[in-house]
Amino acid sequence: MTIESIRKTPGDTAWFRQDRFGMFIHWGLYALPARHEWVQNHERVPTEEYSRYMRYFDPDLYDAREWAAMAKKAGMKYAVMTAKHHEGFCMFDSAYTDFKCTNTPAKRDLLKEYAEAFRAEGLKVGFYYSLIDWHHPDFPIDMMHPLRDDPNALQMNEVRDMHRYARYMRDQVTELLTNYGKIDILWLDFSYPDSKIKTANPWMKGKGAVDWEAEELIALARKLQPGIIINNRSGIEQDLWTPEQYQVTARPVHPVTGENVCWEACHTFSGSWGYYRDEMTWKSPEMLLRLLINTVSLGGNLLMNVGPTARGEFDARAQAALGVYEKWMHACSRSVYGCTMAEKELLETCPPDCRYTESMDGKRLYIHLFAYPFEHLEINGLAGKVEYAQFLHDGSEVTMTEGKVDHFSEGASNSDDLLVLNLPPVKPDILVPVIELFLKER
Ligand code: GLC
Repeated sequence: MTIESIRKTPGDTAWFRQDRFGMFIHWGLYALPARHEWVQNHERVPTEEYSRYMRYFDPDLYDAREWAAMAKKAGMKYAVMTAKHHEGFCMFDSAYTDFKCTNTPAKRDLLKEYAEAFRAEGLKVGFYYSLIDWHHPDFPIDMMHPLRDDPNALQMNEVRDMHRYARYMRDQVTELLTNYGKIDILWLDFSYPDSKIKTANPWMKGKGAVDWEAEELIALARKLQPGIIINNRSGIEQDLWTPEQYQVTARPVHPVTGENVCWEACHTFSGSWGYYRDEMTWKSPEMLLRLLINTVSLGGNLLMNVGPTARGEFDARAQAALGVYEKWMHACSRSVYGCTMAEKELLETCPPDCRYTESMDGKRLYIHLFAYPFEHLEINGLAGKVEYAQFLHDGSEVTMTEGKVDHFSEGASNSDDLLVLNLPPVKPDILVPVIELFLKER
């Protein structure tokens, strides 16, 4: 029995919707300039000049097993790492390009080490693969390209063949889904069809599913890795909707059928996906936890991003952020794993400053206290429905009172279906306390 109904899609999303929490890893040559993964675009760096970073890419401190251990301790159950980002640099030993990590002082297939280490820790393994490629000689220069302002851009495009580039992508996706064992997620990124992009140069074209030859690419991926989860960013609806960098406030549903969809919010710890040394907008511990809890309370997954340094490490700020998740998930992961948005009749009772999650089997309801109430949490509509209540972090009982509460305030909201949870006056020593309600048989 499950309370969750989800739109059927080709990929196997059952494990994904149980696991709820994953690590995004954005790692590439952009870790050297260390000022955003779009640095080549922002600073309009020509391909040859940008390639010089290859000479200095030596992640001598990289140990994927350490990364995997940190992800696992933080409570993350899967990971998605950039095999190739928009810069076109390959973090794997591709036979189809020299612009790859094995041709740098790294001399190693960095993606292989990631896949093996994370799988060994019991995490599911995903690859991010950019459809955009600012290095490839056949990728047409457009409004996103670092060469967009080059006076010869139009002329350069005359010899660029999008079909050849689409074939290159199929060849690389074949390598990625053949040479690295079982791959659970293919995270493509991203389409910008003409309809959405305006540009001063009419000849600069946006790119979408037809340009990527996405039907063929997806069919290939599904042939090589049956059950693989693929996102919608190729421009063709697949398994996964991917709201990015904003807090979803209502459960995403299918725009046509209205069905619940499988969705995953992706966020950064700070303002950049790639390592950005001088970027200071790091999310507070409260924001980190609220992002996760809000997301699961709306039936989604959270993919939280780390941008490793050019030396191959998670910097202290990233490790501190992972530590926030580790501490809270250690005691409270039961309100995340195997949980989803509460059923409607329960959700309607959710008090202010709280978030509900409900176990998929409908037996437990979790109340996340975003603001700690004074001594009582009053919940209209839950009287008679709860067998037992406890704090999740220490398993200590939370006593309950039903119906009228005598606190000399006649005007209080004493309705018959009122459930009052009696809380200690001092907030427990946990950033977001969770109360676990064992629901009566329904
Ligand atoms: C956007 C950014 C890209 C990042 C992705 C993560 O597409 O352009 O840099 O990898 O978001 O979802």
